[in-house]
Amino acid sequence: MGNADVPARIGVLLSGRGSNFVALHRAIARGDVPARIVLVGSNVPDAPGLRHARDLGIETYALDHRRTASRAEHDARVVEALRAASVEWVCLAGYMRILGPAFVAAFPRRVLNIHPSLLPAFPGLEAQRQALDHGTRVAGCTVHLVDEGLDSGPIVEQIAVPVADDDDVASLSARILEVEHLAYPKALARLLEEPWSVVGRRIRFGPAAGR
Ligand code: GRF
Repeated sequence: MGNADVPARIGVLLSGRGSNFVALHRAIARGDVPARIVLVGSNVPDAPGLRHARDLGIETYALDHRRTASRAEHDARVVEALRAASVEWVCLAGYMRILGPAFVAAFPRRVLNIHPSLLPAFPGLEAQRQALDHGTRVAGCTVHLVDEGLDSGPIVEQIAVPVADDDDVASLSARILEVEHLAYPKALARLLEEPWSVVGRRIRFGPAAGR
């Protein structure tokens, strides 16, 4: 649990359009999440999400992963940038990089991700296509703490949506994205405002959970 009187310092990492970043930013501006986005970083220098961040007056950095020698070196430089901005929580928002163990260890239980499926179904790329190909009747999104696996950390929040008979990847992705924009701020607010702990794989909220 954070101290709700002092907004938590958030770093957002993204690789693309950044609609989840914008949703977080709006929820914070509405007063729904006791946080402040202090840095937006990307491995894609021309990511539209970075432009949005600059337009909003938020500090940004771009670190093209193709220009660093190794994943470990890239991760180390990202961690350095986050630390330089005194970031406390890292929110991955369409960040198309797998974080190495040193990154996860640098922010223990303080890295969140959003994934467009009801995990543990359909981790990895093209989750919406995986759901359609499998023929599921519900799909959705998951916000989870990041561990060293792929989309595998403890689950904070999930929202389900129906799959329509005539859905294609675009229509299903759009329906899921709408609930992503609700789930991410909700999950972050809970983690910052409520006591919680991780028991096995489960996140337990509530006074008894203590921390
Ligand atoms: C979202 O579907 C998110 O779940 C996934 O990547 C997409 C990012 O979209 N990890 P945006 O850049 O936030 O609009």
